[in-house]
Amino acid sequence: MQFYANAGVDTVEAESPGGIWNWKAASPRRVPAQQPAPAPQAPAPTASVSAGEALSAAEALAATASDLEMLVSTIAAFEGCPLREGARGPVVYDGVLGADVLIVGEAPGREEDRLGKPFVGRSGQLLDRMLASIGLARAPGEEQRPVCITNVVYWRPPGNRNPTSAELAVCMPFARRFIALTKPKLVLLAGKVPTEAFFPDVSSIIRSRGQWREIETPDGAVPALPIFHPAFLLRQPAQKRWAWRDLLSAKAKLNDPLP
Ligand code: URA
Repeated sequence: MQFYANAGVDTVEAESPGGIWNWKAASPRRVPAQQPAPAPQAPAPTASVSAGEALSAAEALAATASDLEMLVSTIAAFEGCPLREGARGPVVYDGVLGADVLIVGEAPGREEDRLGKPFVGRSGQLLDRMLASIGLARAPGEEQRPVCITNVVYWRPPGNRNPTSAELAVCMPFARRFIALTKPKLVLLAGKVPTEAFFPDVSSIIRSRGQWREIETPDGAVPALPIFHPAFLLRQPAQKRWAWRDLLSAKAKLNDPLP
């Protein structure tokens, strides 16, 4: 089991192992020959041209999505991200579209891929508690304000590895359009990956967290605050005090009078 976990295999897809996994029958030389060839109609875009084409397609499609519903269905139908091949389906958003607060995470994990919603695993539960501590919720009650939650990558990377720069690049036109259309009052960037995706000059979440930046949209700049990713806080609970500071800063910004 540890071997499989280390190799990034964490989902059971069949009742029993078959074919190439019969190690008694298969010599190591035969394994590559028995791996399925990529489907001709959906080649992995390894050549820079096809990655470039996918990016151009993403930019054009994102620009033509005139409202959020259209954007969400455009992302779901987009075939240019190679991660799509290994994921159960797209994970686009949860919460209330158009809420004042938009949380942008990294990419779906196993639970998110299974349920089709961002941040529903352990780190999502912590995120919900963090949001509740400043009166925010994805399904708000009377006392809470709504949030919308999304990621910069919409398909689960295998084994929960970090998305590659090409995978990120092809999803970013949609992430930018998502912000332009939801028009949040502020964005919380959960962790290094979304922070770097919007601000390539950032090299450390430790140094950048807590410092307000601005994401440009056609309708003006949206304040964005890098915060620690809840998965990091689960591993390093002592860092929660910094997350608390950042949440208070977000709360204060939310209550600021409009400029
Ligand atoms: N981590 C993320 O960054 N996003 C998710 O949706 C789940 C875990």
